[in-house]
Amino acid sequence: MEHIQHDVLAALSAAQTKAELDDIHNRYLSKKGIVNALMTQMKDLPPEEKPAFGAKVNALKKTLEAAYDEAVERVAQAEILNKLASESIDVTLPSTKPDVGTLHPLTIVQQAIERYFIGMGYLVKEGPEVERDFYNFERANIPQDHPARDMQDTFYINTEWLLRTHTTAIQTRMLEDYAGATPVKVICPGKVYRKDDDDATHSHQFTQMEGLVVGHNISMADLKGTLEGLAKAMFGESRVIRFRPSYFQFTEPSVEVDVSCHICNGKGCSTCKGTGWIEILGAGMVHPNVLSMAGFDAEKVSGFAFGLGVERVAMLKYGIDDIRHFYTNDLRFLSAFKRFE
Ligand code: PHE
Repeated sequence: MEHIQHDVLAALSAAQTKAELDDIHNRYLSKKGIVNALMTQMKDLPPEEKPAFGAKVNALKKTLEAAYDEAVERVAQAEILNKLASESIDVTLPSTKPDVGTLHPLTIVQQAIERYFIGMGYLVKEGPEVERDFYNFERANIPQDHPARDMQDTFYINTEWLLRTHTTAIQTRMLEDYAGATPVKVICPGKVYRKDDDDATHSHQFTQMEGLVVGHNISMADLKGTLEGLAKAMFGESRVIRFRPSYFQFTEPSVEVDVSCHICNGKGCSTCKGTGWIEILGAGMVHPNVLSMAGFDAEKVSGFAFGLGVERVAMLKYGIDDIRHFYTNDLRFLSAFKRFE
């Protein structure tokens, strides 16, 4: 019994885990354990020795059980401490940054253009992408037989409805809404659609921004000053613009507008194809027919309008070489614009 006591006490104090303690308990202190087995030896003893032997076994059992309970308590405490140590959190470590999305580059450019115009008192107006032939063509002074109406260029839904081919459709709606009242000062962003084959510079869907001003004594000089301010806001203070004669049904006179190249400062480089100038938009004085169809007195009021391609401005501004990058949603591309937000 002394040996047993010695061995068990040693094993209990050496044990580190609940599993080790369970083993010791099974072996010595369970129903079929060694200590109980001692009791069964009692029957072989002479009667006078039985009480003393029984008392000894009971004392051993008590000692061992107490030691076992103590060891269980000790191991449980140690396990809690271990857990606390291994799961402790170092609150001074830098945290993992949550992945925050970015504005789309087209949204960034669109908002920058809007900010420029809102600062001059323009309203931002939108219109439907599924549009009537009436607002897209008829009210823009584009006659029935004009090539732009060709099935090749326009996504028709039926003879009356189509996907708008330009934001000039919003311009004609705005003129109708204002119904002759001036001043009209609106900027109209939106998606437009053309039956183009997609390549690096063409997309069947792209984004335009229409500008429209109608009032008394509005002249080409107002148009030029407005667009030069826009060019500076978009491409830097040292930009200048130039007008080249052009043709649109809904403006007269009509111009293409070039900005001095922001890469080479007008000296000539690959971006401007050696010319020093980059074409960014079409513009002109609103055609008297367009004004009078919408209820304006074209003898008394005049206006200018322009339409620019948002993708084109974004491509020039950020050096993007393929228009398809805007629509394929590659996160490596999109996340590069975080710093421009
Ligand atoms: N609607 C023309 C286009 O899509 C652009 C434009 C708008 C030109 C307004 C002049 C005035 O090419």
